[in-house]
Amino acid sequence: MAKLRCPDRVHVLLLGTGGREHAIAWKLRQSRRLGTLWVEADANAGLREIGRVCPEPTNDPFRLARWCEREDVSLVVIGPEGPLAADYATKLADPPRRVVFGPSREAAQLEWDKAFAKQVMRAASVPTADSRVFTDAEQALAFVASRRDGCVVKATGLCAGKGVVVCKTAAEARAAVEDCLVKKVFGDAGASILIEDRLEGPEVSVLALCDGSSFWILDPAQDHKRVGVGDTGPNTGGMGAFSPTPRATPELLRIVERDVLVPTIDALKRMEIPFRGVLYAGLMLTPAGPKVLEFNTRFGDPETQPILARLKGDLVELCWATATGQLDEVDLSFDSRAACCVVVCSKGYPGSYPKGLEIEGLDDAKAIERAPGEDVLLFHAGTSIKGGKVVTAGGRVLGVTALAANLERASELASLAASKIRFDGAFFRPDIGRPRAAQPV
Ligand code: AMP
Ligand code: GLY
Repeated sequence: MAKLRCPDRVHVLLLGTGGREHAIAWKLRQSRRLGTLWVEADANAGLREIGRVCPEPTNDPFRLARWCEREDVSLVVIGPEGPLAADYATKLADPPRRVVFGPSREAAQLEWDKAFAKQVMRAASVPTADSRVFTDAEQALAFVASRRDGCVVKATGLCAGKGVVVCKTAAEARAAVEDCLVKKVFGDAGASILIEDRLEGPEVSVLALCDGSSFWILDPAQDHKRVGVGDTGPNTGGMGAFSPTPRATPELLRIVERDVLVPTIDALKRMEIPFRGVLYAGLMLTPAGPKVLEFNTRFGDPETQPILARLKGDLVELCWATATGQLDEVDLSFDSRAACCVVVCSKGYPGSYPKGLEIEGLDDAKAIERAPGEDVLLFHAGTSIKGGKVVTAGGRVLGVTALAANLERASELASLAASKIRFDGAFFRPDIGRPRAAQPV
């Protein structure tokens, strides 16, 4: 793509309605180039406060493209995986008038098809767990029976973070295979499965902005997937995250760059698939080195909250540079403070939960006593407005994010602020970013 100059005034359409998007919107709004920021009609209460609601339904990309043209939208930022898999990036782009931050459906296949991601990794010698793909239940069950160690069963398609079962026993693995291939609990997304070796080790998320040839590694974050204190209980979309993490040493990042990012981006390039957007490598730090558990092709949620809270610079310009192949011309740096995001959830999450409960204490959380140089940011996730009041509308309700001189203090401040949020059954993990979880390896 020719080098396109970023307009002085950029009207932006942001797709996505959750916590990650509120953090993106908050950061976009700091840009001197931002014109109107359009958000989706069912965006959370925080997004609706910052943005103007797009009157066009967002489920029809062709109509949306026409609307973008009428409103002179020149940048579309795509948060979630759904519109990426539906190729909104291609359908909404109309350079030089309009560019899209987010990869094409072809490039996003790294996320929406775990079997494809494995193929790319294998071809590029990217370290990852050994795996096999199955569509036939009998063959998959025979394979499970032949294995001695634990394994992981993964639906290959998009399952909103629910398609992965880490199995300690053969019985668990059999049940997971049957869920996907016989009971079809994930529908088409689970019509083919990966069975892979179970790895051990701490996890870290490394996100990079990629423009098709250059990339910038963002300061890494550490997610907390389990619902309970001390990493117990079922998996969730993410109960909290912090950045930077002592696990991501400069040495580790060099290895990830050399062994994961460069070969993956090059392998796609050889397939004539430029990757433009966020490449997110979910890694497990095994005794044999970092291995890729999964790729996402978007910002993580809630990792984005602490990452963008620390990002210095203009996000409109960064998105523009990413979308137009000009990342080599921008500079990127991070606040030296630590950021910690604690997610306040609805009772019952990650199972079913009530909605529509009034949320109190938002101002108290923001006004919490803190030292100079410390900040508290409230990123809405599952919230909406009812009768002029902010109410719950999801399992993950708010990402309370604190910035402080060190991780310990950021974690303490985030938990203190989160404790001010009140609605029936509200809970959060007070151990996000606490030393035990943050031990270097
Ligand atoms: P994924 O959606 O592929 O990242 O998987 C969700 C979670 O399952 C990861 O964050 C890990 O905690 C776990 N997991 C995935 N793959 C493996 C594996 N091969 N070995 C052990 N745990 C895994
Ligand atoms: N926090 C994990 C994800 O966004 O997929």
